[in-house]
Amino acid sequence: MEIIIQPTLEQATGLTARLFSNFMREKPDAVLGLATGGTMEALYGALVATNLDWSRITTFNLDEYIGISPQHPQSYHSFMWKNLFNHVNVPVKNVHIPDGLAKSIPAECETYERKIFAAGGIDLQLLGIGTDGHIGFNEPTSSLASRTRIKTLTPQTRKDNARFFGSEELVPHHAITMGIGTILESRYCVLLAFGARKAKAVAEAVEGPITSMNPASALQLHPKVTVILDEAAAVGLTNKDYYHWVYDQNPDRHEY
Ligand code: F6R
Repeated sequence: MEIIIQPTLEQATGLTARLFSNFMREKPDAVLGLATGGTMEALYGALVATNLDWSRITTFNLDEYIGISPQHPQSYHSFMWKNLFNHVNVPVKNVHIPDGLAKSIPAECETYERKIFAAGGIDLQLLGIGTDGHIGFNEPTSSLASRTRIKTLTPQTRKDNARFFGSEELVPHHAITMGIGTILESRYCVLLAFGARKAKAVAEAVEGPITSMNPASALQLHPKVTVILDEAAAVGLTNKDYYHWVYDQNPDRHEY
């Protein structure tokens, strides 16, 4: 696992945008796994500003709430179009986000998995992390081998996301999410976390034991993961100085 700690959220976001741009220039037909949430807003803004060519890119979002329409302002469909897709030249047919209003949720999940497979798998999967350690909406005790399926959000996640809906009661209880097994099959994972409220989950994910109680800790099993943090999210890491030193020695670091 590569751990990159930047002094501020802005610097961490800028570095991630450069990493993404380089990746997309090297592989203009890449299959990208995308995430939503507050952490991603500035990143998508920075990516839009780089004027990259998205004409051959394919995207798969990690998750979507169940029971709200794609037009709902807080749906992940709305989030993605507002923050990214409306501003880049990605073909609509290449964009995939689970349908939270599907008549059969299990069938929707199976189809989603099949589409990822048919696209050749995910080249780069972008991830945020919940304060409870979730990735996608794989909440604590999720199977580390799980596939795309329905998950029930924890009270903590619903509380955390109340800021987007205006009140906790309005946050849906369920979501479709790629599974941890699905995420681990992507060829490269990039996890972003900013702010002190993520510090505990980050420390457990990176330095704790692999446990379904912190689903992000499953990334320790993945051969290629970059974790990008601001200082505040990194405060709980025991080996922080070591990560700084390793990054400073990395001759490739300026590629970012
Ligand atoms: C959303 C997703 C979630 C978020 C996580 C952090 O697509 O996959 O795992 O990344 O809940 O959300 P923020 O960035 O709002 O703190």
